[in-house]
Amino acid sequence: MSFEEDFSNDPLHAKKKAWSGRFSEPVDTFVLRYTASVDFDKRMALADIQGSLAHAAMLQKIGVISEKDLEDIRRGMAQIKEEIEKGVFEWQLELEDVHLNIEARLTALIGDAGKRLHTGRSRNDQVATDIRLYLRGEIDTIVSRIEHLQEVLVAQAKRGNDIIMPGFTHMQVAQPVTFGHHMLAYVEMFERDRERFLDVRRRVNRSPLGAAALAGTTYPIDREYTAELLGFEAVAQNSLDAVSDRDFAIEFCAASSVLMMHISRLSEELVTWMSQRFSFIKLPDRFTTGSSIMPQKKNPDVPETARGKSGRVYGDLIAMLTLMKGTPLAYNKDFQEDKEPVFDTIDTVKDTLRAFCDMMAGVEPRADMMLQACQAGFPTATDLADYLVRHGVPFRTAHDIVGQTVREAANRNCGLEELPLDVLQSFSKEIGEDVYEVLKLEGSVKARNHLGGTAPEQVRKQVTRWEGIIAERNAK
Ligand code: ARG
Repeated sequence: MSFEEDFSNDPLHAKKKAWSGRFSEPVDTFVLRYTASVDFDKRMALADIQGSLAHAAMLQKIGVISEKDLEDIRRGMAQIKEEIEKGVFEWQLELEDVHLNIEARLTALIGDAGKRLHTGRSRNDQVATDIRLYLRGEIDTIVSRIEHLQEVLVAQAKRGNDIIMPGFTHMQVAQPVTFGHHMLAYVEMFERDRERFLDVRRRVNRSPLGAAALAGTTYPIDREYTAELLGFEAVAQNSLDAVSDRDFAIEFCAASSVLMMHISRLSEELVTWMSQRFSFIKLPDRFTTGSSIMPQKKNPDVPETARGKSGRVYGDLIAMLTLMKGTPLAYNKDFQEDKEPVFDTIDTVKDTLRAFCDMMAGVEPRADMMLQACQAGFPTATDLADYLVRHGVPFRTAHDIVGQTVREAANRNCGLEELPLDVLQSFSKEIGEDVYEVLKLEGSVKARNHLGGTAPEQVRKQVTRWEGIIAERNAK
């Protein structure tokens, strides 16, 4: 059998590995490439260093390494951190992953103290610690971007409080709502997302360090101490579970999927609203792109891209669930496959939120077009039914009467409010001159004046409530 690539002269071939003591031949070069993770896990380097420093401090505290060793380790790690930040650190594929790369460099820099660092630890608890530390920081960034997006949407709601637009069900004009009310619906959605990320964070923020390979270690380690140094809220209580738990990463992908689903729904609305048929909004030019052939085009590329990217985030979630399923306790190399989906989700969610914060701030609602669209679908029909009910007509009868009235208006190609009083009265004697107040869009919207309703007075209250929440968050 021949493969396209021949690795026999590869310089990686036959290099000594950290764990090669019991092996009679070097690992196959292709296998090395196939199983290595350094290309992607090096992004956890700073978390890896942070975890190692806590572990080293603990080893010194319990008397396993000397004060001098700890000092050397700190000095070496400071240099490594600098090399990584400057981009001069030499990552080596034959050292497999971020952990062994950093450890090898540490030993090259400080000698034996570097070799003592891994006492009472395994890459299994090390990697679990690293992902948690890394993810915790990224969750904080994501939460603050969600908060920023909420702020932008609340500002849009405030500005759009009196702009009337058709509310839809089944994509059919249903009842008038305000643009502000519509914006606040997304603020609520993103609030649930924010809660979900904060909830996931609690389970991310537990320390697996000290579980070692799977069973714990024979050294008298102090797991609470390392947990505290690393800012973990709790210590994972079972070593087997500690090294093999990736639930937190799955939950992160799940929370991200729901967030992206919300973004995708918003994107769909933006795309629709931008189409010539609707023309409900204008998007700033910098969020649209032209066509290579049709000079007149302005395409809503950012919302469309975001809508599409929801798919890859769902894919990451499914990849995570699938890779964990069927893995026995405790650590399995399969788990290394958790990094790329999680990183991809982090990048996608962060970029998407960033684009949306900026883009949503630039959305310009077109009140004239929204109003015009309201005219088409008899959006105040329910108001007429409610009016009849207030005059003693049972709701089902009122529903029927209004149905006939709508048919009449459709035949005459006019709105309900344009029907003469005598025509309206031919459907019900209960109808009086005051009916025109409820048939008007403003009247309809204003009448939905209760908690959660679309009345401008209610939306204003909600805006004030959100502004209070935002001010409190920003004060922290
Ligand atoms: N790169 C590995 C991972 O991401 C680190 C742990 C490796 N442990 C092992 N026993 N091979 O999962």
